[in-house]
Amino acid sequence: MSDTMRRMDFANRTVVLGVGGGIAAYKACEVARLVVKGRGKVRVAMTRAATRFVGPLTFQAISGAPVVVDLLDEQTERSYGHLQLAREADLFLVAPATADLIARLRAGMGDDAVTTTALAVTCPILVAPAMNTRMWKNPAVQENLAALVARGWHVVGPGAGELADGDVGEGRLADPDEIATAASRLLGNLDLSGRRVVVTAGPTREPIDPVRFISNPSSGKMGYALAAVAARRGAEVVLVSGPTALPDPSGVRTLRVETAEEMARVVDDVAPGMDLFIGAAAVSDYRPASSAPHKVKKGPGDETLKLTRTPDILAGLGSRLAGKPDAPVLVGFAAETEEVITRAREKLKGKRCDLVVANKVGGSGSGFGSDTNRVALVSSTELAEIEGPKERVAEAIVDWILPVLDARRPRAKPLK
Ligand code: C5P
Repeated sequence: MSDTMRRMDFANRTVVLGVGGGIAAYKACEVARLVVKGRGKVRVAMTRAATRFVGPLTFQAISGAPVVVDLLDEQTERSYGHLQLAREADLFLVAPATADLIARLRAGMGDDAVTTTALAVTCPILVAPAMNTRMWKNPAVQENLAALVARGWHVVGPGAGELADGDVGEGRLADPDEIATAASRLLGNLDLSGRRVVVTAGPTREPIDPVRFISNPSSGKMGYALAAVAARRGAEVVLVSGPTALPDPSGVRTLRVETAEEMARVVDDVAPGMDLFIGAAAVSDYRPASSAPHKVKKGPGDETLKLTRTPDILAGLGSRLAGKPDAPVLVGFAAETEEVITRAREKLKGKRCDLVVANKVGGSGSGFGSDTNRVALVSSTELAEIEGPKERVAEAIVDWILPVLDARRPRAKPLK
């Protein structure tokens, strides 16, 4: 089974697709097709407005079943009621979710086939918003969506790019492929199950004295996103984290450390048997040669701080494990302010890792502290660029790793 097919396995599952009235409705056809291709069943409910963009017959042809549009249609309600739709659903997917539809879903209205189905389902709900970028940024829309998320609903996208109305920005329906992948994952498609993953994240603090330290502005968001994504995809994850303001990700064993040396020690403890190591921490390369036991008093003149090297955790794992049969997959990060790709290639060789995730730091919209990231995945054979929220970047990094992991460390085949 190809990687893409495995990610989109819908066998024995029913996805109920609620189509909203936006120009992106035609892309929902592709989502429906991907579910069918992944051996799943699709049942479709449409808002009246949606039928102005795509005819119900199109969805009927793809899904092989009547489409529910009119709640008061005698024929449909006799043979295929909206409640029946809700009963069948293993996942309810709303795509595209327009600003109006999101508002009605938030309010709990039951004024059309989509909102009524939403009221009646007991399965997970995934919403794929799509609208003009100014509408998307409107606090009313954001508040409505936040209320749905607080109810436990899941959201995929929107993406950024050129919109149908000519505007450029966030608001574009996520790619059908991305929506189908998110849907299949919510249905419990756990492609990392049985895998042990260790992730480092955040900065380290190297004490000068009890109240001062050397550190960097790493927020830990990228490493936490990777740990959360790997756990959601079924891995057993240990996150070794320097000091951050982030809560422990759910389903992840989080071990907090302060210094590079502590981080190295804890990684050594948890490394045996791991399938994958992701070094997302911004480990301090130097520490003060000695740390004063008491607060250093200021003197009249300059001070000199003698620094000494800290252990390189990733390079250490590379030199001990890379090339061995059954070696874990090693992934490093390269945060650089210039010549990003060249430096990443050097790191790939120097630290003997399988993949280096390179990002340019110092600009806005990527790197330290930001919620979004633009990275290049650099391996010995490939160079790929990814941009988006850190969660999405994390998903793409895991997607890249998966076939390498499966080739390197094949899972034991279940006994027939
Ligand atoms: O050499 P540089 O610090 O730029 O390398 C970055 C990569 O190496 C990151 O993946 C980081 O987590 C890892 N690293 C490490 N231990 C260090 C320094 C960096 O694991 N002491």
